[in-house]
Amino acid sequence: MSAVIEDLIARKVFNSRGEETIEVDIVTTSGFGRASAPAGKSRGKSEVVYYPQGGVDQAVKKVEEVVSPEIVGLNANFQEEIDSTLHEVDGSKDFRVIGGNTAFAISVANAEAAANSCGSLLFQHLGGTIAHELPYPLGNTISGGQHTRGRSPDIQEFLVLPHGAESFLEAAATNIKVHRTVGDALGKKDKLFNEGKSDEGAWAANVDNSQALDILAGACEEVSSESGLECGLGIDVAASSLWDSKQRKYVYERENVKRDPAEQLDFILDLVRKYNLVYVEDAFHEEDFKSFEELTKKVKTCLICGDDLFTSNDERLSRGVKMQAANAIIIKVNQVGTLTDALETVEMARKNKYVPVMAHRSGDSCDWHIAHLAVAFKCPVIKTGIVEGARIAKINELIRIEEFLGDRAKMADLKML
Ligand code: PGA
Ligand code: ZN
Repeated sequence: MSAVIEDLIARKVFNSRGEETIEVDIVTTSGFGRASAPAGKSRGKSEVVYYPQGGVDQAVKKVEEVVSPEIVGLNANFQEEIDSTLHEVDGSKDFRVIGGNTAFAISVANAEAAANSCGSLLFQHLGGTIAHELPYPLGNTISGGQHTRGRSPDIQEFLVLPHGAESFLEAAATNIKVHRTVGDALGKKDKLFNEGKSDEGAWAANVDNSQALDILAGACEEVSSESGLECGLGIDVAASSLWDSKQRKYVYERENVKRDPAEQLDFILDLVRKYNLVYVEDAFHEEDFKSFEELTKKVKTCLICGDDLFTSNDERLSRGVKMQAANAIIIKVNQVGTLTDALETVEMARKNKYVPVMAHRSGDSCDWHIAHLAVAFKCPVIKTGIVEGARIAKINELIRIEEFLGDRAKMADLKML
């Protein structure tokens, strides 16, 4: 079915933090697609620039004046052509002219319009009929670091991965139980705990790193023994936000401790052993490939994941691959701008046995496309929170995909855990 683009419309909407963001509609001769862009708070330095100077208003203007004339008339079925046109129109290396989030919204809306034009679901359009594996949901239970204010842990995210689940629905329900159990335990520990939540729907609580991990470990054990299904613990240290480059130390304000890179490695290794962590993201700052390499060598049954380290960028990943720094990579399409760029990184990851982890951003919208991208790109894990509207939008879409696939649906392979 031909899917010639007839119209491209951009508008300003808001994300879950109330920040302005861009939404794009693409109308083809036979279908329609709409997508809006998310935004990070603890961003990697090598991410593309989200918006041109002048912010979302300027981005909307750029779409009308310079992007739309080049995109209208093209065929939405040729995703690479759309994405390379976006690069050409922009002309910079980091999308600073039209905005990386502008490119993201157009790229994803185009894929959705192409899928819609041929009557397919997005995950099938991008992943083909062989796409039938559901990712395990990696969910945030307690927030810290840059995702909170006031007294909270220094580590940014305390995560659960229900890797023993037999279906996505069961995995999502398990995460919700763990989140609830953690909330109850926090209430018992602190009479002032008021069930406040952070941007990602995780609890905002007055606890330190080890109290947060103890509570999460207790909750995982309780839910595992009730359900008979294994739940692993994970953390996103987001260490770039703890790193002080002048002192060359990681500054843990809450703990009142400073750690040099060697002490940081020992600290992380202790946590992996004590809590049997199955997932550790950004344990070191974004330029310290060497420490990632050492940690990866020392732990065998844990995903060592790079987020700010790689920023979904294939050049940075290839540097990691050469050193065997990390064994997993966060994929946030808006870190690189287009689906084609992100897919190249995913393919490089898979070829080199890195686990691609599809992920939301702390400021997100109810856009559910990453649910489809996780299945289409065969990501065995999706990190997209547990509760809160923008998170639930993705979780519920994966439940629908699983139902749509019926008997063909199968959980992804996470044998290494
Ligand atoms: P961000 O954080 O979306 O605020 O960048 C999420 C993460 O670090 O994984
Ligand atoms: Zn991260």
